[in-house]
Amino acid sequence: MNIEDNYAGCCFVGGDSSEREVSLVTGTQVAEILKENGHDVIKIDPSATKNEQTELNGTDHHWLGIDYPEYDIQPLHRGTLYLKNILITKYLKPDIVFIALHGTKGEDGIVQSMLEAAEIPYTGSNSVSSMLAMQKDLSKIFFKLNNLPTPKAYILDRPDASRKKMKRLTFPQVVKPNDQGSTVGLSIVNNYDDLEKAIDTAFKYSSKVIIEEYIPGREITVGIVKSRTLPAIEIKPKHNFYDYECKYKTGMSEYEVPAKLDDELTQNLHNLAFKAHTALGCSGYSRVDFRVNEAGEPFILEINTLPGMTPTSLVPKAAKAAGINFNTLIEMIIEEALDKQGR
Ligand SMILES: Nc1ncnc2c1ncn2[C@@H]1O[C@H](COP(=O)(O)OP(=O)(O)O)[C@@H](O)[C@H]1O
Ligand SMILES: [Mg+2]
Repeated sequence: MNIEDNYAGCCFVGGDSSEREVSLVTGTQVAEILKENGHDVIKIDPSATKNEQTELNGTDHHWLGIDYPEYDIQPLHRGTLYLKNILITKYLKPDIVFIALHGTKGEDGIVQSMLEAAEIPYTGSNSVSSMLAMQKDLSKIFFKLNNLPTPKAYILDRPDASRKKMKRLTFPQVVKPNDQGSTVGLSIVNNYDDLEKAIDTAFKYSSKVIIEEYIPGREITVGIVKSRTLPAIEIKPKHNFYDYECKYKTGMSEYEVPAKLDDELTQNLHNLAFKAHTALGCSGYSRVDFRVNEAGEPFILEINTLPGMTPTSLVPKAAKAAGINFNTLIEMIIEEALDKQGR
């Protein structure tokens, strides 16, 4: 099979994570593009019931012909629906599943491992790399093993863990849940009182909390697609950090593409992004978030293995600056996934 073939795909959208709404936007866009490119595509929300799937795809779709297990799990259990929908996906025999989910049970390797168990091919990083990228403490271990710079951090692995070591911290510090995205539950603090409050907040979102050295300076992100780094983007949020509102509300951030950086720093960021992507074994595409301090030293914050993919998202913006339009970008991601499984 080659890319000109009219392969059939499923696009996984929605899910039940805190980033569901963003995923619905990404997934709907991706599905539209796949249709525009001439492919047969059906959207699947892994957390949805049959009626909800029908609503998602419209009543004229061949979805209705599927022998969908009718019984309901009472009380309705979204987690179990994931299993049911993986079965349905297997039944549909897609050439590829485009995963347009974000956050937990999507970006963290859970859905990837379900698809692996069912031997259904899908786009992006595998379950292990997805998990490593989602767990910021584990990503840091891999970055350090590969001599990649990342801010110094303490990890609290339970709410009642000793906070004695914190007494030596200098401020500001960044407090974040270990495995969330979209800046959810993240605070920047300047004193011990606020630190304690921020730790409690972060524990509401994760069973581990990271307390990380604040890196003053610039915010840069580098996208990767098919082992190729895309032009760096500088993000200039209206707030003092790139929070949920600045990420998703139009006009709340300015973006410079390509970022105005000297050649040496640009090269350095591209190298680091590619090495970080490789260190975690990522594939297909990803986006590496950096802070660059006043001395021009870059620090890797994290890797996003399922970055936003609406036409105004960062990876599509960077691709555009490299002469790759949105339709081609989606095809490149699928192409890599099909190549990986020998088509
Ligand atoms: N160590 C840090 N120094 C400065 N700003 C930070 C630091 N860590 C996070 N931030 C700010 O918070 C945002 C979100 O942090 P990040 O680690 O990328 O988590 P998320 O998974 O929520 O995107 C960053 O884009 C940046 O604006
Ligand atoms: Mg980030």
